[in-house]
Amino acid sequence: MQNKKRLRNAAITGVGMYAPEKVLDNKYFESIVDTNDEWIRTRTGIEERRIMENGATSDMATKAVEDLLQSTNTSAEEIDAIIVATVTPDMLFPATACLVQDNIGAKNAWGFDLSAACSGFLYALQTGAGLIEGGQFNKVIVIGADKMSSIVDYTDRNSCIIFGDGASAVLLEPTDNLDYGIQDSVLVCDGSGRDKLYLKGGGSLNPATEETVQNRMHYLVQDGKAVFKVAVKQMAEVSVNLMEKNNLKAEDITYLVPHQANKRIIDATANRMGIDKDKVMINIQKYGNTTAATIPLCLTEYYRDGKVKKGDKLILSAFGGGFTFGSIYLVWSID
Ligand code: UT7
Repeated sequence: MQNKKRLRNAAITGVGMYAPEKVLDNKYFESIVDTNDEWIRTRTGIEERRIMENGATSDMATKAVEDLLQSTNTSAEEIDAIIVATVTPDMLFPATACLVQDNIGAKNAWGFDLSAACSGFLYALQTGAGLIEGGQFNKVIVIGADKMSSIVDYTDRNSCIIFGDGASAVLLEPTDNLDYGIQDSVLVCDGSGRDKLYLKGGGSLNPATEETVQNRMHYLVQDGKAVFKVAVKQMAEVSVNLMEKNNLKAEDITYLVPHQANKRIIDATANRMGIDKDKVMINIQKYGNTTAATIPLCLTEYYRDGKVKKGDKLILSAFGGGFTFGSIYLVWSID
């Protein structure tokens, strides 16, 4: 186990979230594409999702961080670093992390954005943990935030029904008790999946032109069936690998915290891992797929509902565009 080599672990010591007020239910989609409530519920598990009407990803991220700071009684000046996992930054630059830093007045923080699609929060959590474990930083905020409605093609029934907007943030701090906090991870990127889930326009390959707009190249494209198959296989494989590395059996795990893209992917992954359904965090029915925000939104809601306790063993697992995927094993450290 990696934690034996460390002097201190990074632990989640606080959570915060923001879900925009506007709700789009499945009925709404019946009015814009050829679909129906029954299909969406049974094929995805989604009942509704939130949409940010005014404002951008940084506004949602800022609200999530304000919630986090207030609930942990932390002042913005104490923050050392801010990492924002997102594929919907306000702009290509400056980084959304800079905007959040300024919005909250985190005068002593540095920060950056991290692009790893639906695995973004896990990549950012591991990166933030590294900053803490290295000993130089003591309070790192890790945010998953995406305004998916800004890149979703609302004429494509294959993709538009699954995505929503949201943001959530965690505070990472050091703990000398190595039995708590982030214990281990298996994180992977496999660029051979680049043509299965992508957004082609707006980068250096296809800068915005009239043609890129006409060809709808500023919207995300997903080969849902292909992504579905690889997601189930890889999320289960990396999670089992992580459990074996850490001598964990399915019964040792308090919760699987999966990326919320499709309830059927979640069920199949849990099944392959041998995890009971009642030990799987789920809120996809309320928010849909908020990309980098799904896992921290689950953590925040379950913790605030009193369902996660100090000492609980959690496996966080995600799969997304890139491909990117991976799992993190952590022991919950907040009472
Ligand atoms: O977030 C990280 C990465 N993303 C994911 O993990 C998402 C992975 N993929 C999925 O969740 C699913 O593939 C989707 C929800 C996107 C699609 O569900 P599916 O069960 O894989 O559907 P399918 O693509 O196999 O399509 C089955 C049928 C097709 O009709 P035909 O060809 O059999 O007549 C589709 O055209 O369902 C049709 N269909 C729909 N019907 C009603 C596709 N989308 C819809 C829709 N409403 N919204």
